[in-house]
Amino acid sequence: MKKITIAIDGFSSTGKSTLAKQLANHLGYVYVDTGAMYRAITLFAMQKEYIGSDFFDKEKLISSLSSIQLQFKFNPDLGFAEMFLNNVNVEKEIRTIEVSSFVSKVAEISEVRTKLVEQQKEMGKNKGIVMDGRDIGTVVFPEAELKIFMTASATTRAKRRYDELVQKGDNVSFEEVLKNVEERDYIDTHRDNSPLIRAEDAIEIDNSDLSREEQFNIVLGLANKITDIN
Ligand code: DC
Repeated sequence: MKKITIAIDGFSSTGKSTLAKQLANHLGYVYVDTGAMYRAITLFAMQKEYIGSDFFDKEKLISSLSSIQLQFKFNPDLGFAEMFLNNVNVEKEIRTIEVSSFVSKVAEISEVRTKLVEQQKEMGKNKGIVMDGRDIGTVVFPEAELKIFMTASATTRAKRRYDELVQKGDNVSFEEVLKNVEERDYIDTHRDNSPLIRAEDAIEIDNSDLSREEQFNIVLGLANKITDIN
């Protein structure tokens, strides 16, 4: 069967990674969470104290980029690949609210985007890939056969994120999570470099009122149609 490229973009906490993992598992494709890559660089900047609540030394981060090695390693117990930063598993650390609160600032830097987009293109050169992010259908794989743009209301998304964080034992308030979701929406859609926009040929799915299964079946149907035609 012919393999295609599936690009999934959209606002934060729209369930892109859940959908992308389901599709990749079902189709036997590779799944790449590009947000994890931006998060890992953010964690690096935090560890080196280049970024904090009232400072950000962009130049230091830019000049250290060549020393940052990112790798996805598949964990068969989890069924997906975990993020390694300079050979250390950082999968858990990159998901904290602290990383979320700084990541949009790091993702604005064009040198960071150039480095990561290059790696992402390389990972997808043999197709058979489901990649999620913000600029996958517009910048990384403008030629992707299937592009999905996911949306849901900010409160629906904040509620999902809040439940996830609380379940992991994070001590956060719903208001804090909602504020973070809204701030990231603003920065992600207003940055000069590769802002989050829907590719013209992307199919928009608002999943505020869709179950995971309904959403999966819709997108799998679209993917099957494309592979059947080709
Ligand atoms: O998908 P996520 O919430 O884990 O992404 C974290 C941040 O990284 C998000 O606020 C925007 C940024 N990002 C990006 O700019 N481009 C991507 N392809 C993926 C993520």
